[in-house]
Amino acid sequence: MALVVGILLLLATVACNAAKTACPRQDGYQAFPDMTWDSSVAASAPNPPASAVVSACNSDSSCVGFNSMGQTATGSVTLTEEIGSCIYMKGICEYHEGYTAYNHTMVTNGPFGQFWDTSDAYYACGTDEPCIAFHLPPAGSTHLQMMSIHSLESYYFAQGFCTYLRDGREALTCAPKYGYQNHAHTSAEGVEGAYGSISGNMGGAAKAEMACKVNPKCTAWATDGTVQIGGIGSLDDNVEETCTYVKDPCPPMPGFTAYPDLTDTVTASSRDTSLCVADAYKMCLDDVTCQGFDLMRKFWSTKPNPTTSQLGMCTYVRATGF
Ligand SMILES: *[C@@H]1O[C@H](CO)[C@@H](O)[C@H](O)[C@H]1NC(C)=O
Repeated sequence: MALVVGILLLLATVACNAAKTACPRQDGYQAFPDMTWDSSVAASAPNPPASAVVSACNSDSSCVGFNSMGQTATGSVTLTEEIGSCIYMKGICEYHEGYTAYNHTMVTNGPFGQFWDTSDAYYACGTDEPCIAFHLPPAGSTHLQMMSIHSLESYYFAQGFCTYLRDGREALTCAPKYGYQNHAHTSAEGVEGAYGSISGNMGGAAKAEMACKVNPKCTAWATDGTVQIGGIGSLDDNVEETCTYVKDPCPPMPGFTAYPDLTDTVTASSRDTSLCVADAYKMCLDDVTCQGFDLMRKFWSTKPNPTTSQLGMCTYVRATGF
């Protein structure tokens, strides 16, 4: 009984078990998962399949992006949250050497930012050693260009803005990564060893990231080289110059929304335990009548409705339009 309570508390401490959609990549576009157009957006009628929508948007210079329902949009775009939907916005940021560009993105940052109102934040950031990032507002906007020397905290959608993160400053820029939740100036503490938790230092961020990726028992890694195996007890968000990536509880499956710790107990239409999970994913993706699957290799022919708690389960629901 004590063990069960311990595990429940642990889940409550690190509460990032939200449903999350893995949007398949699309060249020339930046994906915004679990988002849809605001009602004010000028969008076309849905017109699947997705491949037709990509070429329609590519060949129309007024098209700013499309969604997984097959709508294209023009003009000004604001987004609202919608689980199971993907927004793709046309890439707009020109390449600057030494930086990675995030399209239509703004950041909130730590205690201080450094503001720059002349026209060349790229040059200014390059000559200022502590500069870790800068952003450029849309042409003609009255917004200031901004450079930052302190940890960035969170990234959000802002049409027309480009955020440039300086390569080699990942501990401070803490950019979002596929399959993980990013936590700025944070380190992860394990639970007691009795619960099977252990951590180690791999000697560098890149090695820690790789070690965590290939080990299914890894729950988090940090830019200081730490890898966490087994449960995370708490996150200490007072650690300067460290960014921690907590692994999503369900591995991302492109085209599906993952629901951690939830199942639909009634409506599964078939099960094939001879398959491994990767094969179950492939089989469901390729079969247009398959609307979802889970880690038990159950399949659904109507959209599952994962609302029943089941610890450790991942239920995958086909995202709209895939
Ligand atoms: C932003 O758009 C540019 C230009 O299309 C592209 O090269 C870059 O990969 C995009 N960035 C992201 C993070 O998708």
